[in-house]
Amino acid sequence: MNLKELRINKNLSQQEASFICDVPLRTYKRIENDPSYLNSYKYKNAFSLLQKYKKNNITNKSYNIAIVGAGYVGFSLGILFSTKHNVSILDINEEKINKINERTTLFKDKDAEYCLKNKSLNLKGYLVDKNIYRHQDFVVISVPTDFVNEKNGYDMTSVTNTIKDIRSVNKKCLIVIKSTCPVGFTSSLDDRNIIFSPEFLREGKAIYDNLYPSRIIIGGNKSNKKVREFASLLLDTAINAPQVIYMSSSEAEAVKLFSNAYLAMRVSYFNELDSFASQNGLDSKNIIQGVSLDSRIGDYYNNPSFGFGGYCLPKDTSELISQMKNISNNDLISSIEKSNESRKDFIVSDIISKLNKPINESIIGIYSFESKKNSDNIRHASIIDVSNKLKDLGATILINDQSEEFKNKCDLIIANRYDSSLDEVKEKVYTRDLFIRD
Ligand SMILES: NC(=O)c1ccc[n+]([C@@H]2O[C@H](COP(=O)([O-])OP(=O)(O)OC[C@H]3O[C@@H](n4cnc5c(N)ncnc54)[C@H](O)[C@@H]3O)[C@@H](O)[C@H]2O)c1
Repeated sequence: MNLKELRINKNLSQQEASFICDVPLRTYKRIENDPSYLNSYKYKNAFSLLQKYKKNNITNKSYNIAIVGAGYVGFSLGILFSTKHNVSILDINEEKINKINERTTLFKDKDAEYCLKNKSLNLKGYLVDKNIYRHQDFVVISVPTDFVNEKNGYDMTSVTNTIKDIRSVNKKCLIVIKSTCPVGFTSSLDDRNIIFSPEFLREGKAIYDNLYPSRIIIGGNKSNKKVREFASLLLDTAINAPQVIYMSSSEAEAVKLFSNAYLAMRVSYFNELDSFASQNGLDSKNIIQGVSLDSRIGDYYNNPSFGFGGYCLPKDTSELISQMKNISNNDLISSIEKSNESRKDFIVSDIISKLNKPINESIIGIYSFESKKNSDNIRHASIIDVSNKLKDLGATILINDQSEEFKNKCDLIIANRYDSSLDEVKEKVYTRDLFIRD
């Protein structure tokens, strides 16, 4: 049997096979169709992964699931749950609801687009209406929890109001909080049928990360049947076999905050390394490679940038710093934000040093506000802060509009992440993107 026959035998599309083999679709197609791959490691590896593949099919029941908040977290979970369950997604944004019902993706994510086009989804969008909660087995909450400086903590109002609405019509369903919470929030609600289960997806890879979760953390009591059922639902959507870990809701909340603060700290660490190297005329790339090949450190998530940004890392780091304020041993975590701010100042000075005119006579182009490749999310992107600082110093700022004029007019184009469309003006580009990866 060849790879194609094996895939068809397992009733898998090429897209699904590419998920299972953890290669991009175009690579999978090449492995399957190009005879020169037949004896290659890639072919054998794909064959062995498909051979071992067995769809998790832990829950045979079809549940009613409501998801509140159609963002990265809610929409991606909604798509995956609705291949098997009856899913209602609720949001306050009518435009999003219309898009869901027209089967249009809400954000750039090629796997979400694929699922919406090719899978039969039992998924319906609604404007928030508490009557919908009446007949649900599970309600997942994935509304925003923004950090509010004046309060020095998250704004939990949307989560709290949603819980009140649910419990006013349905006392029994299991409520699963996926929104990131302060440690102790879920246990303070004193309801054994409310649990916290952190979400670890990356924007732009939301579906992929739910198909291949690094772990499933359940902050709830394992002796509660509904809690175990929800864990099975998550396991069912996964293609890999992630470890499921049960713990208290407060521990699960801490897992989420400490994970994101670690990521923020790691970004800052490699950025400080890069600042050190630049200032001493050393090649950062050599140093980072040399450091990262130690398996305890790891050659990943080590590419310098203008600073960490996005929706989650800044706000979750701020929240953890706030929670650590009464802990005497908090020096490392409490300095992460400061390091990120000084990195942006360093980048601004470095940019100015590359200009061959005074800053107030310079035209600086901002290449894409997208903080991450494959993502259309610009929330709190570090390049925005850098651009504002340059503007305050008198620079004229132009935002990339894909035009030739943009490329011609700018004295310097700054890009947090490099893109091949910049090749023709490479000599004008300022970036700290040293490891250009897919
Ligand atoms: N984005 C991520 O990568 C990620 C990863 C893990 C955890 N989280 C956490 O999950 C939560 C949601 O994040 P997100 O990125 O999906 O947010 P998002 O901003 O992309 O989406 C939130 C959605 O909730 C809707 N909404 C706001 N208030 C509402 C209300 N009262 N009732 C119903 N809908 C409402 C908004 O219209 C929006 O569509 C946050 O707490 C975040 O910290 C996000």
